[in-house]
Amino acid sequence: MNLFNKKPFIAGNWKLHKNISESIQLAKSIKQGTNKKEGAEIVIIPPYVSLSEVKKTLLKSNILLGAQNVFWEESGAYTGEISPSMIKDAGCDFVIVGHSERRQYFGDTDERVNKKVKAVLSAGLHPIVCIGETLEERENNKTMDKVRAQITKGLKGINQDQISDVIIAYEPIWAIGTGRTATPKQAEKVHEFIRNQLEEMVGKDTSSCAIILYGGSVKPKNAFSLIKEKNINGALIGGASLEADSFVEIIEEAKKAYKEK
Ligand code: 13P
Repeated sequence: MNLFNKKPFIAGNWKLHKNISESIQLAKSIKQGTNKKEGAEIVIIPPYVSLSEVKKTLLKSNILLGAQNVFWEESGAYTGEISPSMIKDAGCDFVIVGHSERRQYFGDTDERVNKKVKAVLSAGLHPIVCIGETLEERENNKTMDKVRAQITKGLKGINQDQISDVIIAYEPIWAIGTGRTATPKQAEKVHEFIRNQLEEMVGKDTSSCAIILYGGSVKPKNAFSLIKEKNINGALIGGASLEADSFVEIIEEAKKAYKEK
């Protein structure tokens, strides 16, 4: 799959929301709202138990499916875990790796993120690797150090060819679920830094192959100005992806922003 084709990339992370029937309903409403429109790559990311049913709902649409987490082993005595090939089998093309909520509550470290990224790529899936600083780190001017460490450790061993299969989501932790968004300039500064880091790591220009999303209180009213920034290729959306209207509105804003880039 050629991920980078001059369209904004908009993904909705439903987190721990929506049971199976609610997931189907929301997927149907998003499908109707976007109605096979071209011009954006759209991914929805429901809880595991809804994946197969939502996949059926998405038939005959351009909307793609992702999972919220994954384990790095393919099979074995690992009660409660899900492997990359199981996620693929459920109809996913994407999987979030290292979301700050997993790092905070479930012990995901950069080393674990790295194992997951490699396993996910081997299975032919695209990891959406989340990185970002805490408020304290930002206030102490440690944002770039944190982001650099998360990239170099989390993507260790990733080569030139693989970088185009990886999506990075910059999600400042202080902006997640708080209603407090990074300003476009604040976000762009970090996105540019991330792109430079990636280029240093793999030794090639990534401006036309590496997707870097912004996440953290993205809403219809701020999506345009964020996505219009040079190195912001789209958004990873939590709260505003739980209602079809706001999610679809963000997609429209993103398309407008891309036209003006
Ligand atoms: P909110 O859009 O609710 O701030 O969540 C962002 C996020 O964590 C997406 O992964």
